[in-house]
Amino acid sequence: MTAKATPISMPAWLGALQGEARRAATLNRHILAGHVASTTFSRELVRALALVPDPGSFNPVEAKQAVTLLGLLGAGALRHDQERRDTFDQDPGWLLDIMRVGNGSYTFREYLGAVADRTGTGHTDRDTFASLVRWNVPTATVRWEGQPVLELPGVFGDNSTRTYTDDPNDPGAPNPSEVAFFELLKLCEALEAYANQQLMQLVSGKLTPASPEGLEAAYRTATMLDGIRALMAAYMRLKGKRALKPRHFMDVVRQFAPHWSQGDIPTTGAQDPESMKRVKILGIAYPGYNHGIVRLFPSLLEHERAEIEALLNNQPLLDVLLEATGVSLAELAHYTPAQKHAFLSDHPEIAAGCQIMVADGRLALVHNQLTQTYLFNPQRQREADEDIRAAAEGRPPVSIDARVVSNYSGTSKMLEPHLTALAMARQDPTGLLRALGMSVAAISTAAGVRPYPNTNKSYASLVTLGD
Ligand code: HEM
Repeated sequence: MTAKATPISMPAWLGALQGEARRAATLNRHILAGHVASTTFSRELVRALALVPDPGSFNPVEAKQAVTLLGLLGAGALRHDQERRDTFDQDPGWLLDIMRVGNGSYTFREYLGAVADRTGTGHTDRDTFASLVRWNVPTATVRWEGQPVLELPGVFGDNSTRTYTDDPNDPGAPNPSEVAFFELLKLCEALEAYANQQLMQLVSGKLTPASPEGLEAAYRTATMLDGIRALMAAYMRLKGKRALKPRHFMDVVRQFAPHWSQGDIPTTGAQDPESMKRVKILGIAYPGYNHGIVRLFPSLLEHERAEIEALLNNQPLLDVLLEATGVSLAELAHYTPAQKHAFLSDHPEIAAGCQIMVADGRLALVHNQLTQTYLFNPQRQREADEDIRAAAEGRPPVSIDARVVSNYSGTSKMLEPHLTALAMARQDPTGLLRALGMSVAAISTAAGVRPYPNTNKSYASLVTLGD
């Protein structure tokens, strides 16, 4: 492969590529509306990438920007191609394997892979959760008592979020609901990241769980997790242009998460590495969970893989805390109410751990509601509508599933019962809450720790976006 020198500067090229991504968002809308031939997308892409900088000339930030933009563009090209081809699942990414860029020097996929190498993160040669969400959306700042405690940087520094169909410069753009969707993912990831920082101080032994600092770390963790629950719940109550319509999620957003190769993992919230870390720290009563996350490893960054790998055989935090008290779960379950109160008063760290488990369980249930609201329930409704239509027309019902990404499962092929089972497996996985048989409010009072955090009014001040 011969590298071509580019006649334009890197900032100018990246600026132009951003312009192409904005135009692609408009083009995507016109193609989906049937106003423009879908082949136009690939033609435009080849034109836009006729001149490309040598991959060796990207610094890591430039490479992250380019990977994000190329990921959006590549996903668009494949979506439109796969919607046209009946046998697309046999060779889903052929188009980007033969499309040549840089005056023929590279295939699109080779070029994206070479630029991804320059990020220095072990990013793969397709779009990922890291590029689409973390790098794309502006910097998220987590605050505790008004003070910034964690930043999850974006890489564009322009306070905007690139999407599949929203072009901020296009007055005809439908609505900013895609922006709001990506923002939700990033806000949640930032809160999760801070929660994990706190948890890791307890897991690593840096903080003693029963010490004031340990209890504070646990309380901050529970607050962050409750904040995620509150954010997700508020998202479902959104009205107006930022509100996500189920049909937009099902027919537009999700369909831009095609396979790029047979068996690869399309972009999905399931790739959120902070969530995987937390589940491994807290435990989950789901056999085979490790297998599920190892399957996602190719879509993660190198440091994410390493951090999760180190936690794969972690003993759940609450098991460790209980073991340290010398009281077994079975003994605890047989304690009288007075003994339980005394136990909690002696071990406030157990109560603090229970608050974390309750917060994690509740957020898992609210996430399940998101999947029902925007995907599974409307898909069931579509099926019922088709049954009624078919009966009225005297014909057998036909498949009403989307063509590229099925609306009966997640993008990584998790079916609805699987997702529900995962959420249920995060309800008290160590059995401690069942053994205590008390509400989280009563547990907190008995232990003399701060009440369970309720962030319904304060979640918005926990994390903000802006470069
Ligand atoms: C409108 C909002 C959302 C919808 C409709 C939605 C839908 C889904 C779907 C369909 C799956 C299955 C994924 C697959 O098979 O690839 C999934 C999984 C997942 N999503 Fe979301 N999601 C939303 C928001 C979020 C947010 C904000 C987060 C961040 C915390 C998140 C984190 C996850 C995780 C960690 C999984 C893996 C399964 C699990 O651990 O329960 N999702 N989501």
